[in-house]
Amino acid sequence: MYLKALILAGGRGTRLRPLTYTTAKQLIPVANKPIIYFVLEQIRAAGIKDIGIIVSPETGENIKAVVGDGSCWEANVTYVLQEEPAGLAHAVKTAREFLKDSPFLMFLGDNLIQGGVDGLVSEFKGGSCDAVIQLKKVKDPRQFGVAVLGPDNQVLRLVEKPKEPPSDLALVGIYLFSPAVHAAIERIKPSWREELEITDAIQEMVNSGCRVEARVLEGWWLDTGKKDDILEANRVVLDEYARYEVGGQVDEASQVVGRVSIEKSARINNSVIRGPAVIGEGTVIKDSFIGPYTAIGKGSVLEKVSVEHSVVLENCSLFGVERIEDSLIGCNVRVSRDANRRRAFRLFLGDDSEVAL
Ligand code: G1P
Repeated sequence: MYLKALILAGGRGTRLRPLTYTTAKQLIPVANKPIIYFVLEQIRAAGIKDIGIIVSPETGENIKAVVGDGSCWEANVTYVLQEEPAGLAHAVKTAREFLKDSPFLMFLGDNLIQGGVDGLVSEFKGGSCDAVIQLKKVKDPRQFGVAVLGPDNQVLRLVEKPKEPPSDLALVGIYLFSPAVHAAIERIKPSWREELEITDAIQEMVNSGCRVEARVLEGWWLDTGKKDDILEANRVVLDEYARYEVGGQVDEASQVVGRVSIEKSARINNSVIRGPAVIGEGTVIKDSFIGPYTAIGKGSVLEKVSVEHSVVLENCSLFGVERIEDSLIGCNVRVSRDANRRRAFRLFLGDDSEVAL
């Protein structure tokens, strides 16, 4: 069976403003790597080469610039423009010309799961289902699509963001479909949030007698839609993938402890870096403490600061701040505190910024 893949990388990312004024949420790095790269790697690891990426008019160009034609992953990437964020099923409809009548893997571009999609894809290929969905037990299912299962992992019912969830099984943003999904999408109506919901399309498949099965994920699932989700994704990914790897220069007065990756031409002077952490290319760290679960992007300068459990993107300058934690800092940001400071903060923040002093 020849499968294609469809990555959904549209949407406006409103919950990640101000970062998403200048970039797509799928491009925000976790452990110094854009989230969508992990998605592409997992799709390729499942043997799929033909990949469509749904993009929005706002951030499509950024995604094209970062992902290119897919040759870095030995994949063929086709971009599909979705003019309006009118729902996941609408995205599938928009991609019909790319998908044709091929079965496909659909992957939300801001989701990550432990262990990849290889197993799920093989089961779909080997079975005779019209759809297979990935589920995960969660504490509060109200913010997700929720599924009710019958015997043999069969899906009986699905509800999108229910006030009273009928189970604790949330739909992870990973689905496998036969072309039967297209007819189901034609039959559904927009939801209360004016979107064509993929959840409703799958329910429609169930109603019309299609075989829909689910697999429940045991490992972690990260849905990176908000600031704290990005920090959590950074923590989990560093925990799993960070390695001790020193490509830059570390002077005698510094200490690098645990799984720390220091990329080439980075310089560490009189500082302590405690892993898991990653320090980007060309970054300079002086008289500082970089604590666990921290990723510092390339080209940054950090002096007399301590940073822990944080993500700092490219070309930042952080100076003289004793303790930064649980923070997500965008590109080209300057944060400084002068030694003779008065009891005043001088702020120059973009729209929708958040500061907790
Ligand atoms: C979408 C789906 C939902 C799923 C979630 C996973 O929600 O509609 O069923 O559980 O992704 O991230 P949205 O991100 O559009 O709110």
